[in-house]
Amino acid sequence: MAQLWGGRFTKETDQLVYNFNASINFDKKFYRQDMEGSMAHVKMLAAAGILTEEEKDTILAGIEGILRDVENGSLVITEEYEDIHSFVEATLIDRIGDAGKKLHTGRSRNDQVALDMKLYSRDELTAIRSELKSLILTCHDLMKKHIHTAMPGFTHLQKAQPLTLAHHIGAYMEMFKRDYGRLNDIYERMNYCPLGSGALAGTTYPLDREMTAELLGFYGPTLNSMDSVSDRDYVIELLSALSIIMMHLSRFCEEIILWNSNEYRFLEIDDAYSTGSSIMPQKKNPDIAELVRGKTGRVYGALTSMLTTMKGLPLAYNKDMQEDKELTFDAYDTVKGCLALFNGMLKTITFHPEIMENSAKNGFTNATDAADYLVNHGVPFRDAHGIVGRLVLYCLEKNISLDEMPLEEYRAISPAFQEDIYEAISLKTCIEKRNTIGAPGPEAMEKVIAINEKWIKDNM
Ligand code: ARG
Repeated sequence: MAQLWGGRFTKETDQLVYNFNASINFDKKFYRQDMEGSMAHVKMLAAAGILTEEEKDTILAGIEGILRDVENGSLVITEEYEDIHSFVEATLIDRIGDAGKKLHTGRSRNDQVALDMKLYSRDELTAIRSELKSLILTCHDLMKKHIHTAMPGFTHLQKAQPLTLAHHIGAYMEMFKRDYGRLNDIYERMNYCPLGSGALAGTTYPLDREMTAELLGFYGPTLNSMDSVSDRDYVIELLSALSIIMMHLSRFCEEIILWNSNEYRFLEIDDAYSTGSSIMPQKKNPDIAELVRGKTGRVYGALTSMLTTMKGLPLAYNKDMQEDKELTFDAYDTVKGCLALFNGMLKTITFHPEIMENSAKNGFTNATDAADYLVNHGVPFRDAHGIVGRLVLYCLEKNISLDEMPLEEYRAISPAFQEDIYEAISLKTCIEKRNTIGAPGPEAMEKVIAINEKWIKDNM
């Protein structure tokens, strides 16, 4: 048991208590951020005249050595320390002697851990944002490629109206752009430095909080020391943004799983991203898409857990907050992994445009356009809706599509129909005439793709 406290205690900590209390097993994940924070703190202490230049240099060299040795594997972070903060301080004192005992001047583990968690979360946010960027670029490429790839659009999972693959992927593009924006918003709000807040009430040392904030890349210091040590809002915000990202990936996965099935065959997932069955030799399963969909649950779990942990905590620091780490770290890793795998899978998918197009051609996806045709020929929309409903019923009985129905039959149901009905309800017309911004028509899609191109330049 290696602890930073113990002076006022007369008994050894019970071993079970020690194990229950210790966080080294998981807070070792931010060893680098912990040491970066300590180095900034030491530089500031020297600039404020609290440490001598010599002490500063000795401590900095000591911490750099520890960091190097941990990274090259020659120094192992073991469970004999209570947490990462104790490990670094004890190792430092071990290596450089008394100067190391001054590291914690004007600091508490409360502002230290608040800083470490924020630095780590900021790094993870940045890493997740760059995975998201790659995915956005993949969607952008696919959109450019598939402006003319027709497919059915669905509501209630029933064929509704024809659109294009570019348009369908464009829907996810919008979701991912919003996700990207959410991460940026969170970054802007969270990027203030809690270091120097002490245990809860600041310190009596003349700490230069602006300086440490600047050294660590923050916009400035946080403004209330109690809030600083007990704020985990940014973790909750980040977990909710990550939950939304997972929800989007999960919806996309669900469609890929459906479209990859024998019933749809709109696409085929690459062999490198599929798995086989131990018993059925013919099988090629979309396990990656299913796993991404499945892992959404654990990210939601992290969000729910964090909200619940923070609920009802009195100010300022409480040990409950140590529970902010394990599930949050797991969520960060999960989202990073899922984004990378999903992007790899999407990039290597083979689409089957002929099958998609054929699917768009049946199922009466042009029924709305037939009704619109009547409206353009003077029939009120509600009547047109009823007329086309009867046409569809007729076609269903004869097992034909609207395109195959003879003109006499059309005219028997409504004399408003003329020879040009066939052109009006052709797949090409149905898609190409829909050119209001946001619609699947190629002119509209070109405009949106140009807007996205600019968005990518301006934002990423
Ligand atoms: N391991 C603790 C945590 O993660 C560090 C802060 C400890 N502070 C304290 N007052 N016990 O929250």
